[in-house]
Amino acid sequence: MAETPQGQGHETLSNLLQESRRFPPPADLAAHANATADTYTAAEADRLGFWEDQARRLTWGRPWDTVLEWNPPFAKWFTGGTLNAAVNCLDRHVDAGRGDRVAYYWEGEPGDTRTITYAQLKDQVCQASNALLELGVTKGDRVAIYMPMIPETVVAMLACTRIGAVHMVVFGGFSADALGTRIDDSEAKVVVTADGGYRRGKASSLKPAVDEAVASRPTVEHVLVVRRTGQDVDWTDGRDVWWHEVVDRQSTEHAAEAHDAEHPLYIMYTSGTTAKPKGILHTTGGYLTQVAYTHWAVFDLKPETDIFWTAADIGWVTGHSYIVYGPLCNGATSVMYEGTPDTPHKGRFWEIVEKYRVSIAYMAPTAIRTFMKWGEDIPAGFDMSSLRVLGSVGEPINPEAYMWYRKNIGGDRTPIVDTWWQTETGAIMVSPLPGVTEGKPGAAMRPVPGIVADVVDEEAKPVPNGGGGFIVVREPWPSMLRGIWGDPERYKDTYWSRFEGLYFPGDGAKRDEDGDIWLLGRVDDVMLVSGHNISTTEVESALVSHSKIAEAAVVGASDPVTGQGIVAFVILRGEAGDGGDGLVKELRDHVSASLGPIAKPRQVMVVPELPKTRSGKIMRRLLRDVAENRQLGDVTTLTDSSVMDVIAAKLPEAK
Ligand code: WT7
Repeated sequence: MAETPQGQGHETLSNLLQESRRFPPPADLAAHANATADTYTAAEADRLGFWEDQARRLTWGRPWDTVLEWNPPFAKWFTGGTLNAAVNCLDRHVDAGRGDRVAYYWEGEPGDTRTITYAQLKDQVCQASNALLELGVTKGDRVAIYMPMIPETVVAMLACTRIGAVHMVVFGGFSADALGTRIDDSEAKVVVTADGGYRRGKASSLKPAVDEAVASRPTVEHVLVVRRTGQDVDWTDGRDVWWHEVVDRQSTEHAAEAHDAEHPLYIMYTSGTTAKPKGILHTTGGYLTQVAYTHWAVFDLKPETDIFWTAADIGWVTGHSYIVYGPLCNGATSVMYEGTPDTPHKGRFWEIVEKYRVSIAYMAPTAIRTFMKWGEDIPAGFDMSSLRVLGSVGEPINPEAYMWYRKNIGGDRTPIVDTWWQTETGAIMVSPLPGVTEGKPGAAMRPVPGIVADVVDEEAKPVPNGGGGFIVVREPWPSMLRGIWGDPERYKDTYWSRFEGLYFPGDGAKRDEDGDIWLLGRVDDVMLVSGHNISTTEVESALVSHSKIAEAAVVGASDPVTGQGIVAFVILRGEAGDGGDGLVKELRDHVSASLGPIAKPRQVMVVPELPKTRSGKIMRRLLRDVAENRQLGDVTTLTDSSVMDVIAAKLPEAK
């Protein structure tokens, strides 16, 4: 198991705990906030009753008999109840007279746009449902979706859920091989794809990867192809069908069945760093309950007036929960953007915020640090006064990245919600509430109401305030994974064997003097230097707090004297030029001054890019290979593998 913690965990550094900047909720936001301080009290007094209240946000065919059946580690929520996810996302809004509300303002990378109302989306989903039925898909079948960020991706997902098929979205940037292994594991019957999508100003193809993946996979009976770019595609008669030929001629009527609350909704694969990807299974009632609640409470969503934008790909869980299911269950209006932040120019995100008057924006620290690198002049050129709440997800947000985000994007006005969760948790678990919680740069703060999470030491004992260890979840939660597809043993081993009776996500964490939670990254990223546990996150945050640094990645490389030595890779901010003479010394001294001499990096290398997974997480494993002069490990999940050559070429100058 890749997630085994290595160190003692509680002997950590204390710099993050010295972060003293505080941002109280803006008064007007607090006065009208969806979630108030009493919510915590109510949820603590009657946790299951609280989740039942949240489940009433949804429309049920039949109400549930039992709120929770818990046979550790297997949970069932709202058993006896029935509902249809697509009806909850669409029909009930249309039936309530909200059919003309915009569901998505979609912006293609080349600048083409589409505005889709709830009524239009419902019609398209009904047509696609009828098309899937015609292609032989029945309740319980798995459908792979390998698409660019276009509205048909949402339509395909909801059409599956409408007929009770289980969608399995594979990020469009993944290879034929990655798609193929996921099709194998899930035994998908149909693949929905497109000829291609637009990325970085070019039409990039998808269909050839599907052809390659499907050639040797007989479970796939049909490939349903959306025409997006118009590029040439190879065609297998009988197997391949055009979306516009099969879907567009269908009826816009489809009578949806209410499925069991525990009916499988989707599978999403997460790749462990080395092992075979895990098919994380989510089901219907509990998942929708928690995504709808957290979307409403954590972002303070006002569906009539807000314009909500999650700048992530639908191929990740962030997109599933906060582009599709949460916003649609809540009747929100969302922006959906196809492309990259620097096409055709580096202000594209802020241009979108200005154009659609986005009021809530949600993105990853990796994006924020990239914007820091590009410089603050770029966002300064746009009117972003519509923004009122900003969110962060995917990695710990370094305090300086938080400050940059707040100042340059949020106009020093907007609260930032740093939301900690995982593919496995399905929805946000630890986060400030923007009308209640004081913001602390870098802290995810508290479990959301109804969630019981804690920080424990090696022996599973809760750490005192000021202590560090591992984050765990004590009680089952509605949107928790129901298992790993086809592998219940691996589910138990991976998440439930480290600490008896506790869910172990694999992340390090601390509690500060107020009891608030700070996430410290994956436990396998902890370094052991002269007997001290030092988290990569802490050293990275210290580096990013230097005025010349936009982004940093830190690894522990084996060291004959100290066990591990700290090796840092840094990217300069746009304003810093080449950093100037003596930069390396300056940075080493800076870390030493902020964290103590024990954390002083042995080496610092200035690099133009860092190796990242396609979901934007830094691949420290590869940097460790470079730092230890080893042959590079598997680079297939990198966004751009040439980055490693550039970094390796830099190596001598660091000595
Ligand atoms: C891992 C889960 C959550 C959806 C996107 C990623 C890290 C996520 C935070 C945060 C610190 C975070 C954790 C977690 N992570 N959000 N706010 N602060 N770390 O989903 O690919 O399943 O990754 O992302 O390490 O375990 P994922």
